[in-house]
Amino acid sequence: MAELPRRLLVAGGAGFIGSAFVRLMLGLQQAPQVTVLDKLTYAGNLANLAEVAEHPGYRFVEGDICDRELVETLAGEVDCIVNFAAETHVDRSILDPDAFIKTDVYGTFSLLEAARVHQHRRFLQVSTDEVYGDVEAPALSVEDDPPRPRSPYSASKVGAEMQCFAYHATYAVPVVITRGSNTYGPHQYPEKIVPLFVTQALDSLPMPVYGDGGAVRDYLYVDDHARGIATVLARGTAGRAYNLGQGGDPLNGLQVARSVLRLTGRPASLIQHVADRPGHDRRYALDSSRARDLGWTPELDFESGMERTVAWYESHREFWEPIKSGEFLDFYRRNYRPLAGTATAPS
Ligand code: NAD
Ligand code: DAU
Repeated sequence: MAELPRRLLVAGGAGFIGSAFVRLMLGLQQAPQVTVLDKLTYAGNLANLAEVAEHPGYRFVEGDICDRELVETLAGEVDCIVNFAAETHVDRSILDPDAFIKTDVYGTFSLLEAARVHQHRRFLQVSTDEVYGDVEAPALSVEDDPPRPRSPYSASKVGAEMQCFAYHATYAVPVVITRGSNTYGPHQYPEKIVPLFVTQALDSLPMPVYGDGGAVRDYLYVDDHARGIATVLARGTAGRAYNLGQGGDPLNGLQVARSVLRLTGRPASLIQHVADRPGHDRRYALDSSRARDLGWTPELDFESGMERTVAWYESHREFWEPIKSGEFLDFYRRNYRPLAGTATAPS
């Protein structure tokens, strides 16, 4: 990774994938300087960065990427921005889209503008495979496919991407974009399928499977995702997007639930079918050969990744127990209460 920029502003670095990326960067022998800018929303957590807190190359700034003045000041001290900051949960975007437009769209503009003014040598936008929308089997999405977002979340991520492409075409800002698939692993706020099901199962509580549980996703271990982002940062071509997926057969919700039951030793009766997510995309599947051609390849298959993940949540109750008894409860009641009692039969 000799070609990595030396002074990074990592927006959203206190979140799940951002913190894995920061730990990766600061663990390198020739570690770059890393400034994390994070608003510490419900999903941001300084505990995710505890292991690098004393690293001489690390600095944390609490703030909003929509704060143009703050962003411009910080951008003047670095040569590259990596943008993880976003509202990220599809179900929350269905309940409250507002913050998604503010952070994911306006916030990305604010960062791009600062990168333009300070003539950065790189801008990496962390995007998602959800920009492709629902993809029918057996097709795999490639980077030149048109965006077809279908949720407020994915539409906000497309809005961010479009600005990135425009800043590259208009102002020659050297932008690269990664489109990662559904990511799981340690330090994930317990609202997405894997950490939700794992923590529910550990407490012998029901795992709410949407609809028939047949919607499929490509599941990627968080450290593999972080390494993919680092590879594109170092070697990607400006103006291009790069898919980052595990590959192989995508897994459906029931398969994820069964894997959790197997690893936690809990009974199948914990699986509870609830009404489907509105506008639920049935399938995402990626062709990641463009990123693989840069030298990236995921190291962990799903079973090994899940073993590590379950072991981490088992031994880190201090991470998720306070969350699940706090803010999360309000969201859980809002999101799942209307669904309970409208169960769909298993397929
Ligand atoms: P996360 O929800 O765990 O973390 C998001 C972080 O952004 C938090 O630390 C939060 O405090 C911060 N943040 C939110 N709004 C902010 C603002 N206005 N200013 C500054 N900081 C703000 O998210 P994640 O799962 O780590 O995802 C990181 C990025 O990767 C996102 O851009 C997401 O769209 C993308 N992505 C996620 C996945 C996935 O499966 N989790 C897959 C592909 C792509
Ligand atoms: O694919 C990349 C995307 O993956 C990221 O861009 C998003 O930030 C991230 O949240 C994730 O989005 P998904 O909607 O795919 O993830 P989620 O874990 O919410 O859902 C995965 C699948 O599991 C989906 O088919 C819905 C289903 N599901 C999810 C939850 C939370 C359930 O059946 N029950 C649930 O309670």
